[in-house]
Amino acid sequence: MSADKNILPVHIGFIMDGNGRWAEKKGLPRTAGHAEGARAFRRIARYCKKIGIKNITFYAFSTENWKRPREEVNAIMSLFMQYLDEAEDFAKDNTRLIFLGDKSPFDAKMRERMVYLEKASENFDEMTLAVAMNYGGRDDIVHSVKRIAGLVKNGDISLSDIDESLVSSLLYTGTMPDVDLLIRPGGEKRISNFLIWQSSYAEFYFTDVLWPDFSSGELDKALKEFSSRSRRFGGV
Ligand code: FPP
Repeated sequence: MSADKNILPVHIGFIMDGNGRWAEKKGLPRTAGHAEGARAFRRIARYCKKIGIKNITFYAFSTENWKRPREEVNAIMSLFMQYLDEAEDFAKDNTRLIFLGDKSPFDAKMRERMVYLEKASENFDEMTLAVAMNYGGRDDIVHSVKRIAGLVKNGDISLSDIDESLVSSLLYTGTMPDVDLLIRPGGEKRISNFLIWQSSYAEFYFTDVLWPDFSSGELDKALKEFSSRSRRFGGV
């Protein structure tokens, strides 16, 4: 491993983009790209664990992705369900699993499985792996604001108790630190409503490599770049 341990990011966010184009380039259906993307997800999660990254979040399905053709949505859901069925193996790995986003649109089996895995792994502390499913950054903030409004309404807190750390703690990522490295393969240079609050001070790493081709070597390149940037958090 080439990156210096001392300057590893604490939380990496991955926007898994380019699955469709990867498949189209090979004359395959887009769903084949998602299947290969799911393999890349496993590969990169394992590698992050191996090199000692403590928190990773993958953008798997956005609040806007429901607009895709039904066949494609179903294929992504079935890849996700396959992962949920085998995810308990992560228990052996001392990895805490969490799912970010509103779970209510998913079918009961999927919802129960997500809740079960979160509960079963809640005390594992070597790494936290978050999968953003039906996630949107703005929706995350609205969800936090609603929870705060509820606390104020019940008299549990007053207006003066509302600060950045309270808003952060009530986001879906409430138990995770801020993102310090955000990686977007697939050639686009935008955040697409992913972890917008949590990435306020993140370093961004963009590459034209498509997500299914994203390898541990590509991650090493991103880590090298991260460790070479000077991070001043608005100071001098
Ligand atoms: C974006 O690429 C990718 C998605 C919307 C789906 C990502 C889903 C998976 C990798 C599989 C399921 C998840 C897990 C955690 C097992 P795109 O389709 O927008 O690519 P394009 O820009 O090339 O069309």
